[in-house]
Amino acid sequence: MNIVILAAGMGKRMHSALPKVLHPLAGKPLLSHVLDTARTLNPTRLVVVIGHGADAVRAAVGAPDVQFAVQHEQRGTGHALQQALPLLDTRVPTLVLYGDVPLTRAATLKRLADAAGTNGYGVLTVTLDDPTGYGRIVRDAAGQVVRIVEQKDASEAERRIAEINTGIVITPSAPLAGWLAALKNDNAQGEFYLTDVVGQAAAAGHPVVTAQPGDEWETLGVNSKQQLAELERVYQRNVADALLVAGVTLADPARIDVRGTLACGRDVFIDVNCVFEGDVTLADNVTVGPNCVIRNAAIGAGTRVDAYTHIEDAVVGSKAVLGPYARLRPGAKLADEVHVGNFVEVKNANIGVGSKANHLSYVGDADVGAGVNIGAGTITCNYDGANKHRTVIGDRVFVGSDTQLVAPVRVGHGVTIAAGTTVWKDVSDDVLVLNGKTQVEKTGYVRPVKIRK
Ligand code: UD1
Ligand code: CA
Repeated sequence: MNIVILAAGMGKRMHSALPKVLHPLAGKPLLSHVLDTARTLNPTRLVVVIGHGADAVRAAVGAPDVQFAVQHEQRGTGHALQQALPLLDTRVPTLVLYGDVPLTRAATLKRLADAAGTNGYGVLTVTLDDPTGYGRIVRDAAGQVVRIVEQKDASEAERRIAEINTGIVITPSAPLAGWLAALKNDNAQGEFYLTDVVGQAAAAGHPVVTAQPGDEWETLGVNSKQQLAELERVYQRNVADALLVAGVTLADPARIDVRGTLACGRDVFIDVNCVFEGDVTLADNVTVGPNCVIRNAAIGAGTRVDAYTHIEDAVVGSKAVLGPYARLRPGAKLADEVHVGNFVEVKNANIGVGSKANHLSYVGDADVGAGVNIGAGTITCNYDGANKHRTVIGDRVFVGSDTQLVAPVRVGHGVTIAAGTTVWKDVSDDVLVLNGKTQVEKTGYVRPVKIRK
């Protein structure tokens, strides 16, 4: 089938410079959700009709499998679809989706397509408690769809119809050009309504069928920030449910946000208010404390991530302990059983098996061996104001508190670095290294006293 996504509208009620379909839901533009769902149906042609913010939309979602049709003036949904006509394969049906309706399930669209077959005209409908604002499905005494009437054009009686047009339709493609060309805009909004095509399809002898979504939220669109926020919660609740079904323990399924993919092993526990972005993998028995942010990371089995830990583009081995308040920045690679404690920042660094940096340190552009103890306040001085340099620390090194390692520098295996040492030259294996400093005592010293005015 061809799939056409209508996305030319402005989204005035978003009160934003960003085109409506680019507003993110779960960290991804609304339109990208629709495109990704469309792709699962293997469309012959995938066309997006753009108008408002066309350049921004193109730049954001452009891909080799996507073609764009520009609707310069928004003259209605029928007119929008007309712009895509030259890009369609007329031998297969055309499914029409909306760029601002992000959560429709692929299975629902498949059901609609199956119901319509190759020659039918299919409309995805839903029955609402409050149908206000939507196009109503008008059926005859035999239950056949006769036409769709917009709220603004509907009679009193028609407005009482609770079955509405979701806007998602599938149509044979060969007769479409003729049907769209025949549309008139003599309606309340002066627009060329796609909804008026259904009557022509029926008159031409195409069976008109309807299908319904499994859930109402599948057909909800975004016209305002309230609706965006509501759909974000629907999405997140669905993700949380899937995690629970897969056996993950969530302290509160209402307080987790996944903006990407989160893959979990067995017996994973996630405390409240954690945010996962990009691709995150948590192996078996990982526990994540409250208020952690984890982006593009793989965490090994049995590792404990304590509260307020931030992890980005990092790999962590098994049985490690991170945080509370640890920060792993891009390129941090921690082996098994590494401990990184509070206010320790690790960037572009490898830390070997069993090594510990428990308090207040910066380990950047470094290769740290196994069994190393990094004392509080240790800093790799990796930046000379122009370039970054590496610090290499051997196995079993004891780094005393408040040490500065001025890179580029290499420290051998088994070295002991005294507290407060500035290491600016390479150090051989198994030595004690310290800076010559003297401790002086002076008697008779008088502390200054605050002068009262
Ligand atoms: C449309 C349907 C209505 C249905 C409702 C469901 C028509 C005439 N009406 O109404 O029956 O109940 O959706 O939400 O089809 N768009 C364009 N170009 C245009 C106009 C619209 O690309 O010229 C796009 C919009 O960006 C949007 C979608 O089409 O993604 C729907 O447009 P919108 O104005 O929201 O349609 P409604 O009036 O709500
Ligand atoms: Ca709408």
